[in-house]
Order: sequence, then structure tokens, then C-alpha cells
Amino acid sequence: MNFELSEEHLMIQQAARDFARNICLPGVIDRDEKQQFPKEQIEELAKLGFMGMMVSPEYGGGGMDTISYVLAMEEISKIDSSVSVCMSVNNSLVCWGLETYGNEEQKRKYLVPLAKGDLIGAFLLSEPEAGSDATSQRTTAIDKGDHYLLNGTKNWITNGNSASVYLVIAHTDVSKGSHGINAFIVEKNTKGITVGAKENKLGIRGSDTHSIMFQDVVVPKENRIGEDGFGFKFAMKTLAGGRIGIASQALGIASGAYELALEYSKQRKAFGKEISKHQAIQFKLADMATEIEAARLLILKSAWEKDQHLDYTLSGSIAKVFASEVAMKTTVEAVQIHGGYGYVKEYHVERLMRDAKITQIYEGTSEVQRIVISRSILK
Ligand code: CAA
Repeated sequence: MNFELSEEHLMIQQAARDFARNICLPGVIDRDEKQQFPKEQIEELAKLGFMGMMVSPEYGGGGMDTISYVLAMEEISKIDSSVSVCMSVNNSLVCWGLETYGNEEQKRKYLVPLAKGDLIGAFLLSEPEAGSDATSQRTTAIDKGDHYLLNGTKNWITNGNSASVYLVIAHTDVSKGSHGINAFIVEKNTKGITVGAKENKLGIRGSDTHSIMFQDVVVPKENRIGEDGFGFKFAMKTLAGGRIGIASQALGIASGAYELALEYSKQRKAFGKEISKHQAIQFKLADMATEIEAARLLILKSAWEKDQHLDYTLSGSIAKVFASEVAMKTTVEAVQIHGGYGYVKEYHVERLMRDAKITQIYEGTSEVQRIVISRSILK
């Protein structure tokens, strides 16, 4: 066992750190306030090769491993999770799903521009009445011979407006339950698609979250991914990797807040000395550092399992549930250490606290992760 990062991993981590500080930090408070999608930041991220960083160079990707991906996700999420969620969905859900299960034609047509970051992708599973209970979705794709006819509404779609390519999960035969679900590649500019208003969210306010409505949308037969009825497994497999990405986002939010609190505690004086010299603050910092380190190790283990082609479903859910709870707890404590300054926008920690909450909700709530974990250990 070797806990050391390679030279290459350290270089990727440094590149992500520099990108976050130089490109994401300027204007991050303003973008959050105005709910502005970080378009220029995503364009710069694409130039670094980070929008399809794990995709093979043969399909326009960066050919990097999952360890590199989680290191980059952590660094970027320390500063701007509206950027990192766009990156995470494009990498883990869209590019990985297409590279692993798409056919050659689909990869050439869609994966290459998505991996290069020339196009952005979105993953459309959740619905107004089906988030955690993914088989209960109502969107249908009815087989009409040479095409499918898509009808329904998807909710909470990250990259909903900025994406050009949607991966849509829909029922083709409700009577077959999870075996009657398929995944489709749908171009956003297809007739019959309406993008709803941007959601006004608590956190990750720059990210582009919309409802998407489909009315009699024609999807060519060749745009189905995999065999008929493979859609639910496609979604589950894809989300299992996505959870490693969101776990690293949660870790970045936690470590970003911790670093700010640590720095602040060394500057701020109270009762005649720096607050870092008071045991009440020292214990908070010690707990934060301990939990962050534990989350990081869980994430790296899951990423390593994915790189070794082992089953990472259990480790990914364990990492996500733990890291997202650490993110919530750490950011609340970081605000507390900052006192009144923590409650105002200029000091960044209140934003990190708001951003932390979503990591316990999307790509499977903490409750769903516990379902996945308990089923795995009890089977
Ligand atoms: N890998 C492969 N197959 C899997 C699987 C996995 N990880 N999980 C389930 N399956 C298979 C099962 O083996 C089963 O197959 P068979 O019928 O052939 O035996 C089939 O799928 C159905 O499985 P379950 O009976 O376990 O399904 P379920 O209805 O009980 O659901 C669940 C289980 C874990 C709760 C699932 O519904 C789930 O993960 N829900 C959460 C969905 C989610 O993460 N939504 C987030 C939306 S996307 C998002 O947030 C992106 C974003 O914008 C940031």
C-alpha cells in the first residue's frame, strides 16, 4: 500500500489549484449573488482538458485516472462548486456513461465534443415525483418503429440550459418496471423541448439548474444507449461513479472552509490572544482536520477501486454519505469560528455552508446512500 501521490497526480492537483485561485475566485461572490452560470470558467476548464479528463485520448479526452479527477474536483470545489458540479456531471455521468456503454458511432458523434469541452452534457433522471425512487419516473419514450416519441418532465437538471446534449432516462414499457427503462441521447435543440426557468437555489447558485419538458420529441432509434431495457442499470452504474465525484466536491467544500477558518483563527484576536490559542477553537479545528482526512481517504480508496476495475458502488456511497456530512458539519463550524464575519458574504464561508447542503441531496440523498450501503452489506 502506498499513500503517496505520484508526480503526475501532484501536477494535476496543482493545475486545478491554480485554476481555482486564478480563474474561479475572481467574481465568485458576484456570480453566486446573480446566479450567473460560470461560462468563461468552464471554457478555461475545457482548455485544461478537465471537462473530459478521464476519457481516452482516442475520444478527445485527457486520459487521466479517477484519482486525478477527485484531486481536481476537491481543489475546484474549495472555491466554486458551481464550476465543479458542471465538471462533475459532464465527466462522471455524461462522458463516462457514453464511453462505457455508447456504441462507436455515438462516441464519435457525441463523446468527442463533450470530452473536449466543446459541448456540455446533462443527465436527466429526476422528475417532479421521482428523485430517490428512480423507477417511479413517468417520462415515456414510446417505440414508433424507426424512432421513439418522448413525453414528460425532468426536474433539477444540472447544466439544463447550458448543455447541448442530454442523456435522458425514460420508460419504454412501464409494465416491466426497472427493466422497461431506457437511456437516450437527445439533442437539446430538438423540436418539442422546452427549458424551464432557472431554479433560484440556496447554494451552487451559479450552476444551471432547470426543469426540461418534452412534448412529442422524436428521438432516433440509434440514439438509444445499449440493449433494450438497459436504461435503469445504465443510470445506476453511472451514478455510482458520479457519487465519487460529488463526494470529492463535498470534500473540497469542507477543506476550503477549514483552510479559511484555520487562517482566520491565526489572525483574529480575542481575550488578548489569537483565537487559535483558545482551546475551544483548537478542538473545533482538530475535529475538522480529522474528519476531512477520513473523508479524503474514503474517496481516494473508492477512486482507486474504480481505476482497478473493482466494484466501487459500496465504497462510492460510503464516501459520499460521509464526505457530504463532513461538508455540512465543517462549514457550519467554519462560520462559527469566523463569528459575525462568517455570516457575511465577503469571507466566503457562508457560501460554502450553503453549497455544502446540496451534496447531501443530489446524485442520491444521504438516505439513498444508506439504502445502497445497507443492501450491499446485508446481501
Ligand atoms: N449497478 C448495477 N445494477 C444495479 C445497481 C448498480 N449500482 N443498482 C441497482 N441495480 C439493478 C439491480 O440489480 C436490479 O436488477 P435486476 O432487476 O436485474 O435484479 C435493478 O437495477 C433494480 O434495482 P433495485 O430493485 O435495487 O431498484 P430500486 O428501485 O429499489 O432502487 C435505489 C434502488 C438505490 C434507491 C435507486 O433508485 C437509486 O439509486 N435512487 C437514487 C437515484 C439518484 O441518485 N438520483 C439522483 C439524480 S441524478 C443527479 O442528481 C445528477 C445531478 O444533476 C447532479
